[in-house]
Amino acid sequence: MAPPLLTLNNGTKIPQLGLGVYQIRPAQIPTAITTALNSGYRSIDTAAMYGNEPEVAEALRTSGIPRRDLFITTKVWNTDHGYDNTLRAFDRSAAALGEIDLYLIHWPQPQHNLYVETWRALERLLHEGRVRAIGVSNFGIQELRRLLDETDVIPAVNQVELHPWQQQAPLRAFHTEHGIATEAWSPLARGRHLNDRVITALAAKYGKTPAQLVLRWHLQLGTIVIPKSATPSRIRENAAVFDFELADDDLLALAELDS
Ligand SMILES: NC(=O)c1ccc[n+]([C@@H]2O[C@H](COP(=O)([O-])OP(=O)(O)OC[C@H]3O[C@@H](n4cnc5c(N)ncnc54)[C@H](OP(=O)(O)O)[C@@H]3O)[C@@H](O)[C@H]2O)c1
Repeated sequence: MAPPLLTLNNGTKIPQLGLGVYQIRPAQIPTAITTALNSGYRSIDTAAMYGNEPEVAEALRTSGIPRRDLFITTKVWNTDHGYDNTLRAFDRSAAALGEIDLYLIHWPQPQHNLYVETWRALERLLHEGRVRAIGVSNFGIQELRRLLDETDVIPAVNQVELHPWQQQAPLRAFHTEHGIATEAWSPLARGRHLNDRVITALAAKYGKTPAQLVLRWHLQLGTIVIPKSATPSRIRENAAVFDFELADDDLLALAELDS
């Protein structure tokens, strides 16, 4: 089943589930992306820092899937903060990837004083129609508030670490209040807690794997998820999460895992 589309604050539609490709080596990208596309994924989350933009682009190009049906996210890296640097970094990513749907500031650090200038460069890219939506990653409430106060465009997305053990409730509430979509990185907490007793018990109850149970929790929370796997069977497993629904009391049990 194809992942549902969520509508971002400027009307752009994004699949609620995509494939994250951090730490997927360039040589592994063709198999990972082909497997993902064959399993219904249409969204890929990469970054200049991941070193695999050209391979991602090539794998998508050779798939034969029309570009308008795909959604590509990439990010400006920490060493490229500032207005002109960011425009140049975007040009490099666009040269590798072609069209970019969503462009994010990867981190507000390390040059804290520069991210507002970086954001102004993203606003320009949006106004020139070079990207369909712009957003941020790893921004806290204070940093988001600064963008809201000092710039024109509200970020469409904030991509942050989020999983049952780090639920980010105050930040998610802030996002909701301001129309910013929450996107979860490390949605599976890198697999560290998939043997948690609450998770394994609920997975058994629904006849799903622990990873599927966790991804379903995200989807019902309304977050966008980008689980990473370089393993074809897991890439397929992580997409098979649209045929069951967690009951309210099970969502409450999962809320208790936040630490
Ligand atoms: N904006 C940021 O600063 C930032 C930071 C980190 C990540 N991200 C993005 O978020 C994506 C996902 O985050 P992540 O890679 O940190 O963590 P993740 O998706 O939570 O977990 C990935 C790890 O879990 C394993 N895994 C995947 N599916 C599994 C399954 N069904 N069962 C058991 N283990 C499974 C993977 O192993 P195998 O690959 O060996 O199968 C890998 O070791 C990244 O790829 C990247 O696109 C963004």
